[in-house]
Amino acid sequence: MKLTRRQILWSAGLPWLSNAAPGPIFDIQGHRGARGLAPENTLAAFDTALALGVDTLELDLGLTRDGHLVVTHDLRLNPDIARDASGAWLAGPGPAIVDITLAEIQTYDVGRLRPGSRYAASYPFQVPADGERIPTLAEVFALVQAPGARHVRLNVETKLNPLQPDLCPEPDEFARVVVQAVRQAGMSDRVSVQSFDWRSLAEVRRLAPALPTVALTTRQPWLDNVADVRWTAGLALADHGGSVPRLVKASGAVAWSPFHGDLSRAELAEAQALGLGVLPWTVNDMDDIERLIDWGVAGLISDYPDRVRSALKRR
Ligand code: G3P
Ligand code: CA
Repeated sequence: MKLTRRQILWSAGLPWLSNAAPGPIFDIQGHRGARGLAPENTLAAFDTALALGVDTLELDLGLTRDGHLVVTHDLRLNPDIARDASGAWLAGPGPAIVDITLAEIQTYDVGRLRPGSRYAASYPFQVPADGERIPTLAEVFALVQAPGARHVRLNVETKLNPLQPDLCPEPDEFARVVVQAVRQAGMSDRVSVQSFDWRSLAEVRRLAPALPTVALTTRQPWLDNVADVRWTAGLALADHGGSVPRLVKASGAVAWSPFHGDLSRAELAEAQALGLGVLPWTVNDMDDIERLIDWGVAGLISDYPDRVRSALKRR
């Protein structure tokens, strides 16, 4: 019997994904849906990603004042993304997600990037979708529970910053609400939880040991979260021989998502030897995509999942 590509991909499974049986052998993750092609973290972006044939939707979560999980990257409404109910662009950072209700959040239009902004210039192929609202996680669950999308996984990020606690939910409470939402939606076998703030991941594992957690890292001037125990739930790099893969393994995460520019081939091999899945973010350049596939990463998180797909197709 001749197997289709999807059957081949899904028959092999991913050993690092404890809740996936079976799963894709190479995980194409659409970053914020498909930010390069549609407004980030909107239903339009998730629809675009599904139409392109991703394996996983990557998305960011916030928790509103009235306890709803909403899909947004920023701790405060982003003035390059959000327009108020009158259609006016925000003059500066808007209210914090934790300080407003779902009804208030959904008065904002997030369907296009502010014309003339540097952010808009970074995504010249993004097709606006005026009228798009910040969705709830429940709405995204519904998308992937529809016929034709039931094979798609979600990689949900708890957006937290331990250095700005006033703008964030309390990490344990955030984890509890996420686990509860995943269970209530019957999505326990299709979700992983990722974070730069490993406190929420530890709580997810405590509440739901079978739910895979993914440790995000960046070692860049704007943030080096592995060098600061406030981000790593108290784990110190020095106690793990200065090895990020060993630190990630010690955290209990089953996969590691490093900033792609930080990853060396030696570190990839070390992580793989420890049994970690390695999924770099956010890989948009075709040369980087080709190189990292050659290196043998488990998957790629990209604003342009179509590029990852075409690179794989050529092989
Ligand atoms: O999945 C990892 C990636 O999304 C982390 O970066 O800032 O886009 O959430 P960010
Ligand atoms: Ca993210």
